[in-house]
Amino acid sequence: MVGKVQVDGWNASLYDKEHSFVSHLGGELVQWLAPKPGEKILDLGCGTGDIANQLSKQGVDITGMDKSENMVEQAQKKYPDITFIVEDAVNMRYSNEFDAVFSNATLHWIKTPRQALQSIYQALKPGGRFVAEFGGKGNVQTIIGAIMNQLGEVGVPYQSEKFPWYYPSIGEYTSIMEQVGFRVTHAEHFDRPTPLNGELGLKNWIEMFATGMFEGVTTETKEVIVTRVEDSLRTGLFRNGEWIADYKRIRVLGIKE
Ligand code: BEZ
Repeated sequence: MVGKVQVDGWNASLYDKEHSFVSHLGGELVQWLAPKPGEKILDLGCGTGDIANQLSKQGVDITGMDKSENMVEQAQKKYPDITFIVEDAVNMRYSNEFDAVFSNATLHWIKTPRQALQSIYQALKPGGRFVAEFGGKGNVQTIIGAIMNQLGEVGVPYQSEKFPWYYPSIGEYTSIMEQVGFRVTHAEHFDRPTPLNGELGLKNWIEMFATGMFEGVTTETKEVIVTRVEDSLRTGLFRNGEWIADYKRIRVLGIKE
């Protein structure tokens, strides 16, 4: 195993070693943010801090926030001059504080979107912007479907209430944004086939992100299932030596009115 996972379920070293593509892919979203030097911006779900660091270098007064202590500890070690805090997006204590709230690849973990959006709205100054990207309806459905099938094959039928993610449609999410008070100026729901790292890419992705689907399954059985998932998906998702995950993203920009 790489790194520690004792404090919470997140393995920050594995994240940095095998999943740095998550931060790299956040680059386009930074263009939507269009940060200006001196702006006060919150990076919600900052992970190990790479995008916060990029924004700090552009002169932004950045605060990185993550629910995972492991992630924040690693971020603070890498970037000691940046402020990082451990906090849950659904009850932030900020009020009228930020010019923008930025969030890359996090909001699909929050199954109470209205509370998160209310908390974000409250944290923004009037006129402040909320810029986010996360998994949308149909995200990684090929991978999830294969895991569910294989769980069924070994006699552990998947219980849908254990599904760890929130993957809304664009209509559903932007409606909640509007109900909370945002003016939604941009929204997209698009396919983004995402290369994972090397031959072990799919296995590492499952270990890092989908381990919650294996609750109550022994380590040995999980290994068998993951191998069968790889076998069943190789024809469709493995090309030229790498796995390509069937990501579908939601990207939004809203203004606090
Ligand atoms: C995503 O970025 O879409 C994602 C990452 C990990 C698990 C599920 C979705």
